[in-house]
Amino acid sequence: METDKKMVKEFWNAASCGEELYLKGNDEVSQFNNQLKIRYQLEPFILSFGEFESFRNKHVLEIGVGLGADHQKIAESGAILYGCDLTERAIQHTQKRFDLLGLKTNLQVADAEQLPYSDNQFDAVYSWGVIHHSPNTPKAVEEIHRILKPGATAKIMIYHTYSMVGYMLWLRYALLKLKPFTSLKEIYATYLESPGTKAYSVAEAKLLFKDFSKVEIDTVLTHGDLLSSNAGQRHKGLVLTIAKALFPRWIIKTFFPKQGLFMLITAVK
Ligand SMILES: C[S@@+](CC[C@H](N)C(=O)[O-])C[C@H]1O[C@@H](n2cnc3c(N)ncnc32)[C@H](O)[C@@H]1O
Repeated sequence: METDKKMVKEFWNAASCGEELYLKGNDEVSQFNNQLKIRYQLEPFILSFGEFESFRNKHVLEIGVGLGADHQKIAESGAILYGCDLTERAIQHTQKRFDLLGLKTNLQVADAEQLPYSDNQFDAVYSWGVIHHSPNTPKAVEEIHRILKPGATAKIMIYHTYSMVGYMLWLRYALLKLKPFTSLKEIYATYLESPGTKAYSVAEAKLLFKDFSKVEIDTVLTHGDLLSSNAGQRHKGLVLTIAKALFPRWIIKTFFPKQGLFMLITAVK
C-alpha cells in the first residue's frame, strides 16, 4: 500500500490535474483564470452538484484541491475553508492562486486516508476526483465520515466503472492488444490516470458509503465519454483524432446518458 501511495504521489507531483492542458496564459492570474473558465465550460455540472453557495459561513474541507479552481469558488461563496492534497505541487498551485486573488483558506499537505482534523469538525466535505486514486479508498471514506458533524454532508465525485471512457480504453488496451479478458477495473488501474486508479459500480459505491444515513448517487456523461475535448494528460495520437471526428455523440447522449465516467455522490452523516 505504501509503495502504491508513493506512486500516486509521484504521478500527481509531476503535474497537477489539468496543469499541462489548461494552465496557459501570459501571467499567472490569466493562467488560473483560463483554467477555471475551461473547467466549468467542460464540466458545468461541477457547479450544480457542488452547490458551493450553500457553504456560506460553514466550516468546509476540500480533499484533493489540485489546481484550486473549485477551492476558489468555495472561498468566493464565503465558506470558512480548509483544503488538503497529497502533493506539495497542488498545495503550492492553490496557495499561489489564493495569494494572487486575495482569498483565504487553510491549506496543508495531507493524506485522505489519515486526515489531520478532529472528529465532527466540518459542516461539509467536498472532493472531486480524488479518493479513487488513493490505495485504500474505504479508509478515505471512513475518514470523511469521522470529520463530518452529525447531519453534515459530503459531496464526492469518484469514477464509475460502466462508462464510455472505460469501454473505449478497454477497446484500445484490451481488445486491440488481443487481451479480451482484461477487466474494466484493470484498465482503469493501468491506463486512466495515476497507477491503481479505481472505478465503482453504483452498488459498490452504496456499499462504500454504507455508514452514512442518506446517500444519493448519479452518474453523468463527461467530455471524455463524448470525446469532445482534449482527453486526459495521458492520451493523444492519430487513432484518438480519428475517433473524435467519427464519434456518434448524439446516440450516446440519447441512449446511454448514464454511462458516464463521473459518479456524483451526496452523502449525509
Ligand atoms: C484528478 S486530480 C483532482 C484534483 C482536483 N480535485 C480537480 O478536480 O482538478 C487528483 C488529486 O488527488 C490528489 N490525491 C490523490 N490521492 C490523495 C490522497 N490520498 N489524499 C489527498 N489527495 C490525494 C492528487 O494529488 C491530485 O491532486
